Amino acid sequence: MNTLEPSSRVRRAILIMPGDDLKKISKGASLGVDSMIMDLEDGVALNNKERARQVVQQALTSGEIDFGKTERLVRLNQAKKGLQVEDITMTVIGKPDGYVLPKVESAREVQQLSHTLLEREILLGIEPGTIKLIALIETAKGIVNLPQIAQADSRLVALMFGAEDLAGSMGAIRSEGGEEVFYARSAVVLHAAAFGLQAIDTPFITIQAMEALKAETLTARRMGYTGKLAIHPSHVGLINEIFTPTDQEIDHAQRLIEAHEAKQADHTGAFAFEGSMVDMPMIRSAENVLARARAAGKL
Ligand code: COA
Ligand code: MG
Repeated sequence: MNTLEPSSRVRRAILIMPGDDLKKISKGASLGVDSMIMDLEDGVALNNKERARQVVQQALTSGEIDFGKTERLVRLNQAKKGLQVEDITMTVIGKPDGYVLPKVESAREVQQLSHTLLEREILLGIEPGTIKLIALIETAKGIVNLPQIAQADSRLVALMFGAEDLAGSMGAIRSEGGEEVFYARSAVVLHAAAFGLQAIDTPFITIQAMEALKAETLTARRMGYTGKLAIHPSHVGLINEIFTPTDQEIDHAQRLIEAHEAKQADHTGAFAFEGSMVDMPMIRSAENVLARARAAGKL
């Protein structure tokens, strides 16, 4: 189920920034976002990887940056690039909340990383399983292997969709409507829902086009996504707003559940509520709204 447990962390806007840019890390930490990703992968030049690891380590360990309640995630390089072990060694001592694994194509990659993290947790005296994982699905093979990937490991908390890399891996050409990646975008959220994970949508890469960002984010929300990557601070507010249930939605959900409970006590299943038929699927959806509202601190 895609229902968020009250205790689970809400991840609406997830702000990503290059790991070699301490100023952006510091800025990201000051914004009160739900999560941020310090990137060691494609946002960092190949000849700056070592520098990025040092900067991320410094950000996590020096105490100069106050992350507040913001989740501290680090995006790793793929294992096959030969950079991942060093990425982990340099950053795990800062006890990040989790890692984002890019271009995931098999359950094995997730399990191997999880195993490596277990060894590091033991060495560092961290409770085993504390460090979370998010799998970034952004290749054709990743989409095809979603059923295995989504069940790969108990550290996995979310699937994240990456449209740009996927289009590259399929030979597709990106369009405004995104029809070329729609099957994949649906598949990611469907598998997340099937296996109890959050689903994070692809970033919107135009910096200043708020109407288009809004349309794309509303679509993601309607599809069942629980959050969206943000590549610029100006995207965070709008994304947070769209992924937070409105007062009206919360009120409607509460009244619907109350009416349902009264009907159930009266031995009635389906009933009419404000002009529409209501039965169990609508109740589950209303419960989902309330769980999301609780996770966002609105209830
Ligand atoms: N995270 C945190 N802070 C950011 C940011 C980000 N992703 N993007 C911009 N900022 C900061 C800038 O440092 C600047 O701060 P200041 O006002 O304190 O000087 C402010 O927000 C305004 O930034 P702006 O001048 O509009 O953008 P820019 O030209 O500095 O940067 C990008 C543009 C695209 C390079 C930048 O937004 C970025 O790095 N995005 C993320 C890229 C990335 O991680 N890609 C890989 C994954 S898709
Ligand atoms: Mg990518």
